[in-house]
Amino acid sequence: MPVDFSGLKSLQTAAKDRHILDLFAADDARAQSFSATSDGLLFDYSKTNIDADQKAALIGLLDTAGVAGKRDAMFSGDKINDTEGRAVLHTALRNLDGDDIFVDGAGVMDGVRRTLARMDDFADRVRRGEITSFSGAAFQDVVNIGIGGSDLGPVMAYEALKPYIDGPRCHFVSNVDGAHIHDVLRGLNPLTTLVIVASKTFTTIETMTNAETAKKWLLASTGEEGISHHFAALSTARDKTATFGIDPDLVFGFEDWVGGRYSVWGPIGLPLMIAIGPQNFAKFLRGAQSMDVHFKTAPWDENLPALLALTGIWHNQICGHATRAVLPYEQRLVRLPAYLQQLEMESNGKRVSMDGEDLPFNSGPVVWGEPGTNGQHAFYQLIHQGTRVIPCEFMVARYGHEKGLEHQHELLVSNCLAQSEALLRGRSLDEARAIMSAKGVEGDELERQARHRVFPGNRPTTTLAYDLLTPYVLGQIIALYEHRVFVEGVILGINSFDQWGVELGKELAVALQPVVAGTQDGAGKDGSTLNLVKFLQV
Ligand code: F6P
Repeated sequence: MPVDFSGLKSLQTAAKDRHILDLFAADDARAQSFSATSDGLLFDYSKTNIDADQKAALIGLLDTAGVAGKRDAMFSGDKINDTEGRAVLHTALRNLDGDDIFVDGAGVMDGVRRTLARMDDFADRVRRGEITSFSGAAFQDVVNIGIGGSDLGPVMAYEALKPYIDGPRCHFVSNVDGAHIHDVLRGLNPLTTLVIVASKTFTTIETMTNAETAKKWLLASTGEEGISHHFAALSTARDKTATFGIDPDLVFGFEDWVGGRYSVWGPIGLPLMIAIGPQNFAKFLRGAQSMDVHFKTAPWDENLPALLALTGIWHNQICGHATRAVLPYEQRLVRLPAYLQQLEMESNGKRVSMDGEDLPFNSGPVVWGEPGTNGQHAFYQLIHQGTRVIPCEFMVARYGHEKGLEHQHELLVSNCLAQSEALLRGRSLDEARAIMSAKGVEGDELERQARHRVFPGNRPTTTLAYDLLTPYVLGQIIALYEHRVFVEGVILGINSFDQWGVELGKELAVALQPVVAGTQDGAGKDGSTLNLVKFLQV
């Protein structure tokens, strides 16, 4: 039975004309009672239009949907991904201090620790120049070839943790567009480049095509013998990595209970580990572990993943806002919106519930965003004055890493806070009139000009604040979002861990390739597709 949102919808309808500022006026302690902390993170959701009764009703959803039981089932290795018959245990990859976890009666933690130790050793030795290229030279560059979850996690974290990089440079190739691999390889020396092929299945057409291109590039310099020195693989499919010619000692495997978009914590994180070192990678895992413990133990009204999920449900399913913007005031989180797009939209973009029935409400929201302050000068206009409400999720650190540039960090923080204040407060017609009148505008023109300068305000935002973007904090933030997606998925009654929706396009692309190549006719294709093929054929 899907959860029933009607009670919450009635509460929302009854209060829909209320201004968020009225909630602050009625409760001096609102900022405190509508925020929560976990191990140095502060999540403030007081600038939403949720009042105490609505909050209680939202928290009630967690019990109705059985979130605690499903959370415990996930952490303990039950096969909660039931359309694929799999456990969901990315949390095991960071369970550094926890007890063993069992899947089908077999403990998984020994294997997790063994793989992590092999990764540590490999990364250390590449960093120290002990594992060398075919020519005996230390590796200067690492090219990670992967797509989706085998790309977005490592590339997002690599950008985020730039101040911690002291190993070889990493480059990430994902797109099947030959321009991507061409532009990356063009600047590199094959004799000092390690290529990591990251693919859970080792069948993904983009990754395998790019891996073959990289192989040809290497072969030209190193000959056949070089391949075993220059290629490593991160995959669950050892048979396929062997067929490709990758030395089994350089294959880092993981289990099918690690979903692609949840895989950065294990072997898929290897390029990041090579770049920042095993110790910093361990801190990344420990940050995530801290969030796991918080999610499992904090009461719901102090539980960050639950609260983040409930604000998401409130804005999307209850208020009907179709998108949410993720706005990190942290340039190094430039790839976070893309990472969260996969995490949230591949996980919760489903049209049927676990039992195969049509969802009676909307599934997960469209997630999009860009670091501030850049977004301010691009799309914030629509957020402030557009006709649709877009809930915004701000993120900001107390400190930046850059010594001597503290004044820039102050400006960054001020901008972040100013945006959520502007979205809350707005500017009334009277205020706009006063501004225009002070500039000497009068009469009808004053009225017309003032109306363009009105900000409706009353637009909901949340803010996640933290000290400094360290590996530990990044681990906390990513695990926070993972669990938020999980909680939203449980409330919606969907399977957040499969992704059947990406299959049809893949199948059709394979079928279309010979049509595009001109070796097969397009019988059965629609007129538009045939017309486009005709135009694009060479
Ligand atoms: O097409 C979607 C997807 O299956 C993602 O879920 C996954 O992260 C990505 O493709 C890459 O898959 P793989 O790691 O098996 O190459």
